[in-house]
Amino acid sequence: MSDDFLTREKQFFLNTYDRIPLNFSYGEGVHLITENGTKYLDFFSGLAVNALGYNHPAINNAIKKQIERFIHLSNYFVADVQIMFAQKIAGISGMSKVFLTNSGTEAVEAAVKLIRKIKGPDKTIFSLSHSFHGRTYGALSLTDRGKYKAGFQPLPPNTDIIIFNDINDLQKKITSNTAAVFIEFIQGEGGINEASKDFINKLFELKDHIGFAIAADEIQTGIGRTGEPFAFNHYNVEPDILLVAKSVGGGLPLGAILTKREYDNAFTPGSHGSTFGGNPVSCAAGLAVLNEIFETDLLSNVNRNGKYFINQLKEIQKMFPEYIKDVRGKGFMIGVELSRDCSTVVTELRKRNVLANCTNECVLRILPPLIATKTDIDFFLYNFHETLKTL
Ligand SMILES: Cc1ncc(COP(=O)(O)O)c(C=O)c1O
Repeated sequence: MSDDFLTREKQFFLNTYDRIPLNFSYGEGVHLITENGTKYLDFFSGLAVNALGYNHPAINNAIKKQIERFIHLSNYFVADVQIMFAQKIAGISGMSKVFLTNSGTEAVEAAVKLIRKIKGPDKTIFSLSHSFHGRTYGALSLTDRGKYKAGFQPLPPNTDIIIFNDINDLQKKITSNTAAVFIEFIQGEGGINEASKDFINKLFELKDHIGFAIAADEIQTGIGRTGEPFAFNHYNVEPDILLVAKSVGGGLPLGAILTKREYDNAFTPGSHGSTFGGNPVSCAAGLAVLNEIFETDLLSNVNRNGKYFINQLKEIQKMFPEYIKDVRGKGFMIGVELSRDCSTVVTELRKRNVLANCTNECVLRILPPLIATKTDIDFFLYNFHETLKTL
């Protein structure tokens, strides 16, 4: 990548991203290819967006077909493709109603508004320690990770944090004044932390008793990433509100809030809206994604290869106990907790043409496209092993 490229980025963009110095020309399957033809294995997947990898024919064809019909309609009208998408995702998730957004944080905002409308302004909305729910003001008020909030106070009031997986703290904080609990059943940004079954059982027991809402943030975990349609499916529970985004639009901007039970009827015309939310082209791409993931045996690939991947990483952990503290996750949402900052490992992997992400300072976050094969995983494992040898 020429220096000029990065200099121009600095010249024209607000300083919000620490860009990786690679200039990609195109993507194909699980690979990204640079302008000079170097091929990278992408186990970053656009941070859990590119579930079907790059240049997937089903997504491309669906987009092309919809573009030739219409790209946008005002919300005074509804398009067949929007209804088909809503019906499909409601069916897969077991939810009943849908509102379509452009992004994850917008789905969280919609959920906060919906909960406030039903429960009133004074009750407390909880989220969990280490949570990440987005960067707009409502979502930020539920995000625990301090670095994202610093400098942006005051945030909307009447929110609080329950310590992740701490049943005592849960029992202490939940009261009749609780409006809702937002939860990532497996935390992504926070370091691939799985909620314990005991914690979830207690949370739902309290909800049944008190009647607050449980909003499952499946923006990163959803649409098959963990080997089940949604991470909550691993726990045999049913949230009241479900939030999806990222992979659901096949790389185009799309998100959704899904509801059931009393939450279906909180909004009335004018309560909420979005000019672009649920764009027909995004919905066409999203429908192709849902068909590819749920009408084929892709999920069994994720389960089988995810188990293999995690087991092999645990074998590597045995060889490098001084560097690897923990290997965890489900399906294709995997965290390797290192005993040091993981940015060096990410940089070394990149030198070996492998892309992965580092989160919460020391957790190597591995999010392969759901189409990744055992051969792709073996390539990652070999290069990870080689990288650890150089530390
Ligand atoms: C769990 C979770 N919630 C919310 C968001 C925010 O989504 P978006 O970046 O689409 O606004 C993210 C994004 O990383 C996320 O991982």
